[in-house]
Amino acid sequence: MEKSISLILTAHQLENMRSGISSTAVVYDVLRASSTIITALANGAHEIRPVLEPEEARQLYKDLSGKTDKSILLGGERKGEAIPGFHLGNSPLEYTREQVCNKTIIMTTTNGTRALINSHKAGAKKILIAGFLNQGALVESLRQEPSFTIVCAGIQGQFAYEDFLSAGLMLHRLLDEEGKYHLDDGALAALGLAKGIKNDPTAIFQCFHGRRLIAKNRKADVEFCATVDPFPVLPVFQKPGIHLSSPVPLPGN
Ligand code: MLT
Repeated sequence: MEKSISLILTAHQLENMRSGISSTAVVYDVLRASSTIITALANGAHEIRPVLEPEEARQLYKDLSGKTDKSILLGGERKGEAIPGFHLGNSPLEYTREQVCNKTIIMTTTNGTRALINSHKAGAKKILIAGFLNQGALVESLRQEPSFTIVCAGIQGQFAYEDFLSAGLMLHRLLDEEGKYHLDDGALAALGLAKGIKNDPTAIFQCFHGRRLIAKNRKADVEFCATVDPFPVLPVFQKPGIHLSSPVPLPGN
């Protein structure tokens, strides 16, 4: 049977869709929420809890405190900056093993956590978190999926080049078995772009969000998020939390 791949350009677009997602959702927010989630879990975080608003995050922090044996951290951003009173911002470089190992992280970001929650509300059966950082693991897992929908988080309700490009480069790598997939126009366009870019993820240095982060002295974040395959992990969001599909062994285990 022919497999089908579709692509949604922004998390906001999901709110207005008449029919939901009937298959697996693959959520991209390369700069930076999905890259941060991948890094945190690869560095041994126990769980990520995505929520929409900072207030909701603070409330959940209070609710969970004392009810779990895991330490809890608040992480995320608004306008790209750390949220007052939160332990961590949204730079993947902050989510080191020392900071996050064995911890639960409650996270709220402008677009990324919204894309995850909207995908859940739209009925996605399985929700995978994707970026350049875990492209290889994702491609291997998607070979087993009959159909999937790529959800690009976008930025402030608008199209974001880095999500679209990262999705296209992933498709380029996956579609080595030509002819077995039916691509909608969005997926076809992402694949076409990726072929033109010739596997160069550093193209995200020139896009709006890349330039914005570089102007905020966050070039190291953009470079890190554009790295292909350092983490062979697959984060899966199954409400209420995000975990790895198979945990990475911790040192000494
Ligand atoms: C978001 O979710 O909007 C982002 O990840 C923004 C950022 O931290 O750069």
